[in-house]
Formats: sequence, structure tokens, C-alpha cells
Amino acid sequence: MRILFKNIKELLQVRDKTVVFVSGKAMNELPTIKKAYLLVIDGIISDFGMMKNCPDIVADEVIDATGKMLLPTWCDSHTHLVYSGHREHEFIDKIKGLSYQEIANKGGGILNSAKKLQETSEDELYEQSKIRLEEVIALGTGAIEIKSGYGLTLESELKMLRVIKRLKQNYAIPIKATFLGAHAVPNEYKNNKKGYVDLIIDEMIPLVAEAGLAEYIDVFCEAGYFSIEDTELILEAGKKQGLIPKIHVNQFTSFGGVQAGVKYNALSVDHLEEMRDEDIETLKNSNTMPVALPGCSFFLSIPYTPARKMIDAGLPLALATDYNPGSSPSGNMNFVISTACIKMKMTPEEAINAATINGAYAMGLEKEVGSITVGKKANLILTKPISSYGFIPYAFGSSQIEKVFLKGTEII
Ligand code: NIG
Ligand code: FE
Repeated sequence: MRILFKNIKELLQVRDKTVVFVSGKAMNELPTIKKAYLLVIDGIISDFGMMKNCPDIVADEVIDATGKMLLPTWCDSHTHLVYSGHREHEFIDKIKGLSYQEIANKGGGILNSAKKLQETSEDELYEQSKIRLEEVIALGTGAIEIKSGYGLTLESELKMLRVIKRLKQNYAIPIKATFLGAHAVPNEYKNNKKGYVDLIIDEMIPLVAEAGLAEYIDVFCEAGYFSIEDTELILEAGKKQGLIPKIHVNQFTSFGGVQAGVKYNALSVDHLEEMRDEDIETLKNSNTMPVALPGCSFFLSIPYTPARKMIDAGLPLALATDYNPGSSPSGNMNFVISTACIKMKMTPEEAINAATINGAYAMGLEKEVGSITVGKKANLILTKPISSYGFIPYAFGSSQIEKVFLKGTEII
């Protein structure tokens, strides 16, 4: 099957396959080809270049992209989109002035979602989750990471991970699974956190790894949740079973989570709303991708990750949605990109790099997606006719996407 995109106004994020992420000043460069063509053969990007060099071939489908941009789909490296029910009553508490922690302390928060999930059948959980997955694909997401962490019992954590596995099998979008047993301490272990950490280490991790249900291991490393010591024990146990660390740190407190992540060679450290200078120093010369979640900052009215300071210090940065029922009930990467520009002072080039190639790296998919590169999956966004790519973040809240393709197939 050959699909030829012709007369593309601008082909964005054109990269050599040696580029696995971009950092510092290079984040402000977005290589493009104006007046371009792109050829997809059997779901893979097989050729592209300037329209004047377009090969004279017979294609099964020709798409005229006059006035439109073509770019790789968004790579959302941090979501919790498998969950049950919603928490909009907590939203009202929040409007009335309660903080995320105060809501959690009065029985809301992660434990509220865990209770709902434990009472939901696996089939029902799949049905609820697939609606959200289809929604975000239509919004231009073409690779995604999904976490467990609303089960908090062996049985329910496995249930969540099996739902993620089913989504992987049934959808063309690449999905990575992360085991987040250490998302909150369940009520039964309220006075025995060590008992819950032991359960994660001794029972959950071995079973998750043995069943091949996750690639990554995550911990909510935060005051009132899991300490540095808990985090290190869990990452150590996960690594022994082949699970790569990818962790929640510095959402409310900077107390050494970034250092723990780098020490265990985490693929990414995510949130980073609270950053000390030493956290930025630690991330320099590491292979760990910092990931910002501006939808969470927006929704909870907490500080934004200091992207400017981090990029100016030479770091890379990825952007993700954190799609979850408590701190970011939206999986819209377009909104995340706009918010990064508006609130975090990232340029459109930086935001697009952060949401594509850097996001791909943050979930180990940099060889498959995240750029226009020969050999990568033809997971593509075709925009509506727009004046420039800066219009995508500028026109916040209104979609500039005309069509989304996964492996060259149009998603309807
Ligand atoms: O990434 N911070 C921890 N976990 C999620 C929120 C989970 C929830 O509130 O349900 C997050 O923001
Ligand atoms: Fe999260």
C-alpha cells in the first residue's frame, strides 16, 4: 500500500535517524521542508523531499496537502488513562479552595479512584479506557505511555495492566505500560507503609515482570506518599526484574527525587514543578529525560515546571498530558503545547520538539516515532490550511488537525 502526500506546505520535524532527542539551544530548531512530498509504503515513512523532486510513481492513494502542514503525531509519555469513573465532585472542592493534598486527606484523591477501580470489572474498565484512547488519537496522539496505580492491590494492579495489554493488542498506536503500584498507600496499610512497600517488592513486581505486563516502573516520590528510601527500594527491585525506572518527582516537594531517579538511571523524571538549582545540575550529563506536565499545573493551579531555566541550562525537556481523573482530566496534547508556550515561555519550536522527538525518547520509542525519518512509522498529523506552524500553539483550544494517520491509515 503506497500513499503519497503531495504539495505539503511545510513538512515538520524532519530528522536524521541519529537524532534521539534534542536539548538546550537545539530545542529551538525545528527542521522543516517547504513545498514537500512524503511517501508511505506499508505504514512506514519511505521517502520524502522537495516537491520538485517528487518521484513519478503510481500510488494507491494521493493526498493533496496544499496549504497544509504534515508532522509526526504527538508522543504522550505520561498518562494514567486507564481509570474508572471521574472525580468532578473533588473539582468543586478545589474550586472552593481545597488543595490537592487536602482533598486527598479527606478521602478523595488517588484512594477514591482506587476504590472505584477495584469495584469495576476488567471488561468495563477496558470499555471506559478505550473511549479515552480513541479520543486522544483523534487529537493527534500517535504514541502513548499508560500507567497502573489505581489498583493498589495485587489483583487490581494486574487488572489495570491487563487492560493496557488489551489496548496494545487492539489499537495501532504504540503503547508502553508502566507499573505504578507505589502511587498511594492503601487504607489497609495506613499505619504500615513498609508492609505495602514489601508487598510491591515481594509480590507485585515479580508477578508483573513475569507476566510481561510492564516495561517501566514508577513511584509517586512525594512527601506524604513514598520517601526517597521507599523509592530506591522499589526501583532497585524493579530493575532486578528488568523494569526501567520512570518516576513522579518534585510535584510539590523537591527532596531528592531527581537524584534518586538519575542514580537509578531513570528513563524520565516527571512533573518537576518544584526545581532547585541542584536538581538541574543533577540532570545535566544524565540520560534521564525531564518531563513537564503543564495540564496538571493548569488544573491544580500549582507552579509550572521552570522550562525556560532548564532549557537555558542546556537540558532537554519533554511534554506530556498526565491524563488522569485527579490532577489532569484531559489528554489533549494540543492544549499542553499551547500551555507550554503561553505559561512556560517555550517557543513553538521547543514545544513541538518536546511533544514529539523528546516525548518519544521518554518512552523508549525514539526509533519508531517522533520525527519524519525514513523507516519510522507513518504516524502523522495533517493540519488544516494554516499560515505557519506557530499557529498550532497560538490558536489555543481550537483544533488545527484535519486528519490523523497511524501507520499510514487514516483514523476516523
Ligand atoms: O501524576 N501525582 C500523582 N499522580 C497523578 C495524579 C493522580 C490522581 O490524583 O489521581 C499525577 O498528577
Ligand atoms: Fe502522573
